[in-house]
Amino acid sequence: MQMPRGLNGRLFYSVLLPPAAEMSLLLLSMLLFAVVAPSAAWRPWPLMTLNSSGSGSDQLLLFGGSKKYEGSSEFVHLKYHMGPVLTNNITVHPIWYGSWYPPQKRIIREFISSISAVGSKHPSVAGWWRTVQLYTDQTGANISRTVRLGMEKNDRFYSHGKSLTRLSIQSVIKSAVTARTKPLPIDHKNGLYLLLTSDDVYVQDFCDNVCGFHYFTFPSIVGCTLPYAWVGNSAKFCPGVCAYPFSVPSYMPGFKPVKSPNGDIGVDGMISVIAHEIAELATNPLINAWYAGPDPSFPVEIADLCEGIYGTGGGGSYTGQMLEDKSDGATYNMNGIRRRYLVQWVWNHIVSYCSGPNALDQ
Ligand SMILES: *[C@@H]1O[C@H](CO)[C@@H](O)[C@H](O)[C@H]1NC(C)=O
Ligand SMILES: *[C@@H]1O[C@H](CO)[C@@H](O)[C@H](O)[C@H]1NC(C)=O
Ligand SMILES: *[C@@H]1O[C@H](CO)[C@@H](O)[C@H](O)[C@H]1NC(C)=O
Repeated sequence: MQMPRGLNGRLFYSVLLPPAAEMSLLLLSMLLFAVVAPSAAWRPWPLMTLNSSGSGSDQLLLFGGSKKYEGSSEFVHLKYHMGPVLTNNITVHPIWYGSWYPPQKRIIREFISSISAVGSKHPSVAGWWRTVQLYTDQTGANISRTVRLGMEKNDRFYSHGKSLTRLSIQSVIKSAVTARTKPLPIDHKNGLYLLLTSDDVYVQDFCDNVCGFHYFTFPSIVGCTLPYAWVGNSAKFCPGVCAYPFSVPSYMPGFKPVKSPNGDIGVDGMISVIAHEIAELATNPLINAWYAGPDPSFPVEIADLCEGIYGTGGGGSYTGQMLEDKSDGATYNMNGIRRRYLVQWVWNHIVSYCSGPNALDQ
């Protein structure tokens, strides 16, 4: 989750929450008031959620205590707040900011194209998306089954520099939709704009607290309201935070990184964050649809609830059961069109659990 505090002041804050074991509830409640971070992907794990009927520190819960978490449910009150969700065919428009190599782009493009591909081997990316499709709007229309790759834009000369703020990100999107040559189409109803920054670009709060976030553009900056997400390649700055478990932070001695499925730790780590943000954009594009918690300025969304959970038994500091390729040792949990990916699960509000296609009981 990620949220703008003091929009007028144009200030945004948020924090990274350390592992549950090291956190007291007191510290957590202090953090809650320091935090503002709607829609950001926190790493490495989910530590808390809000009790929507309580308030203040009563709202805080540690997930870290139980290995069998998998998103135990009785305390999670995910609600629909009557806003729109993406029920039309979704088109994702990547903006490649900075230096991207063709093989890196292919990993990400193929992931996006895998979301609604038919015929991928089980457990599949399309199977993962089926949980997202369970969400509906006021009319009962489901989230679209179809997610496709739209037009792309390269911003290879770092139009807004190598250090971006949350507001300059909107200016990058503006440049992409107003470019003189091949601008991205402005598509309010179906378009998602995905700003991907290369590993030499720093974005405000990157690593300290977020690996990605989603929001919508302000008409005052971009000229219209477009749902967008930013996800950064963390390979140089903080792979232990944002490309976990392919890299492990130094404060976790004894944990061994696992081998990434496509041979690029930064990009393989981005995949799960991209998935997180697309799932939340689809179900909460204007931050007024599906989220938990009493406060729209502090929404806990469907992927936040399952942060760090990749398989059965996941929760706390445990990723859950993943798959390991016998021949190359790569760790993953789902298949795309041609590749394998490791993607966090998302909240299933029908059964009140995190679910994913590789669940052992399916
Ligand atoms: C959530 O809040 C309600 C109302 O304050 C309270 O009755 C309930 O016990 C709380 N649940 C937890 C898990 O704290
Ligand atoms: C949406 O996507 C489906 C499947 O790809 C396609 O059959 C359908 O024509 C699309 N609808 C629109 C309005 O583009
Ligand atoms: C649409 O959402 C409803 C309610 O969650 C669910 O029962 C149904 O299976 C969903 N349909 C699809 C195609 O996912």
